[in-house]
Amino acid sequence: MNILSPSILAADCAKLGEQIDLVQQAGAKYLHIDIMDGMFVPSISFGMCVVSSLRKYTDIIFDVHLMVEEPIRYAADFARSGADIITVHLEACSNVEETLDWIHSLGRKAGLSVKPATPIRCVEKYLDKADMLLVMTVEPGFGGQRYLPASTARIREARKMIREKGLNVDIEVDGGITKENISLVLDAGANVIVAGSAVFRGDITRNVRDMMEILDGHEEQTDLA
Ligand code: DX5
Ligand code: ZN
Repeated sequence: MNILSPSILAADCAKLGEQIDLVQQAGAKYLHIDIMDGMFVPSISFGMCVVSSLRKYTDIIFDVHLMVEEPIRYAADFARSGADIITVHLEACSNVEETLDWIHSLGRKAGLSVKPATPIRCVEKYLDKADMLLVMTVEPGFGGQRYLPASTARIREARKMIREKGLNVDIEVDGGITKENISLVLDAGANVIVAGSAVFRGDITRNVRDMMEILDGHEEQTDLA
């Protein structure tokens, strides 16, 4: 299934609840929450209390992206706060397997992410422990950057690897995704689409509806093929 995961990094934090309602009503099934620790990435964003406050407000699936050094330290806190999917960076874990197992033991889905410079092949041995592979399409750390064109081949390679292994792993893409390049990443094999600026800048409802139309259209096309 193709899913849109709007990233609240680009939302107006004074209107978070209201803006989440808008994206959900317009068809988004996930909400992407970027957690930055000022170490793994230079910036700092949200913490547990934002996630738990939002959890009381909405039932949308929380897709929590931990840009955090040794994320195993915080997985239980985010699970308790209401995360449904917890994604960690391969580059940030001293023991990737243990971290993914720990997330599963908390009853949550586990995502594994790679930065643009990390070869896709590095995730191969962990794929059977991951529910989702997050292929970063910009350098993690900030919203509003441009999609890195080399990402397309990386998504394709990831999809091929997953198919060859006979696994059912979602491929999420994150960074610089717009209405203009969404078809490109879908064609390459991505099925969970993060979008921050492209959703929250301008008319939120319209942006989500336009993107959903492309996602649903692409799904019908693949069903027919
Ligand atoms: C970047 C974050 C992204 C970011 C995407 O480090 O992981 O989720 O919010 O923002 P856009 O869609 O504006 O590139
Ligand atoms: Zn993200």
